[in-house]
Amino acid sequence: MMTTTQIEQQDVGAVVQHVAGLAIGAATSAMIVVGDRLGLYGALAGGGAVTPQQLADATGTSERYVREWLAQQAAAGLVVHDATDGTFTLPPASAAVLADDDSPAAMTGMCVQTEGLFRDIDLLVDAFRTGAGIGWGEHSAPTFEGAERSFGAAYRAELLTRWVPALDGVTEALDAGARVADVGTGRGVPVVLLAQAFPRSEFVGYDTHPASIEVARRRAEEAGVADRVRFEVHDCQGYPQDGYDLVTFFDAFHDLGDPVGAAAYARHALVPGGSLVLIEPRAADDLPTNLAGNPVAAFGYAASTFLCTPSSLSQPVGTALGGQAGSARVRGVLDEAGFSDVRHVADSMINMVIQARA
Ligand SMILES: C[S@@+](CC[C@H](N)C(=O)[O-])C[C@H]1O[C@@H](n2cnc3c(N)ncnc32)[C@H](O)[C@@H]1O
Repeated sequence: MMTTTQIEQQDVGAVVQHVAGLAIGAATSAMIVVGDRLGLYGALAGGGAVTPQQLADATGTSERYVREWLAQQAAAGLVVHDATDGTFTLPPASAAVLADDDSPAAMTGMCVQTEGLFRDIDLLVDAFRTGAGIGWGEHSAPTFEGAERSFGAAYRAELLTRWVPALDGVTEALDAGARVADVGTGRGVPVVLLAQAFPRSEFVGYDTHPASIEVARRRAEEAGVADRVRFEVHDCQGYPQDGYDLVTFFDAFHDLGDPVGAAAYARHALVPGGSLVLIEPRAADDLPTNLAGNPVAAFGYAASTFLCTPSSLSQPVGTALGGQAGSARVRGVLDEAGFSDVRHVADSMINMVIQARA
């Protein structure tokens, strides 16, 4: 029979291993961002086996740093080292995750988001002490880049193939030519995707963060859809209620101070029969179920603590739904806002899709 001390030592050992794994993940995430910024993955992808010198030459970087970076990437299991000739190879599966933002498996954005969390630790520590909120725009640059890239990967993989088809009557409306408002649009990734797919529809994206709106306008220009897509700085309860066929909130609804007010406002902005569509983080309705069944819950609650909860607390009402509110809670908010037909229509690994009609 084991003594209490032995059991405790085993427990402590297990936790040490677990925390070491978490710290290794965070350190590797930082190394991934370094590789991304310097174009190291792009140069490795499809390049076969390379020496550190070859990779340094191809990217205009210093061989000594590149050699150390490659050793770390090999230790982390992302590149393969051949000891016989001293070369390193990025396997195709790693390239799909790290070298190509258009890949459905792209994960670099999540690492960039993590960089944003680290940069904002002091901001969050102060907020814990004061209870004050942190507006979205107060965060550091990697937060905005990380959100665009990580959410973008999910939108490119799911929006047109799974989410829109799951929405009742929405494909038909978009095909025919719909007026769409996207609220909390950020850098506008899903708006541009929808505009490319539905050339008869017109879109406007609203957000309170001017720097994101600037980038969104650039994205629309780059994609050649700026003639049908506008982006404007407006609060979720201040944009023109112009009679939209569709009002969407992509990963933004839970960030609002007053989601009931924002949904009620959107209801008045819709034409009769129009739909409100929420893309929200997928989460169970209660903490124990979420802890047991959601493989990305630890990331979701971290993002919620750093970004979503403080965003809501920085605004009037400060409901603070949190990024892991769950379907029942979010649908309850829509009921309260006066929607009578509220349906949870689709799920993906990290998102859920809710459609509501008045
Ligand atoms: C997590 S980001 C999502 C951005 C974008 N929809 C996407 O999916 O990439 C949340 C966005 O909501 C915006 N936001 C927060 N509160 C807002 C408000 N009261 N009115 C309008 N936008 C707001 C933030 O500025 C931020 O761009």
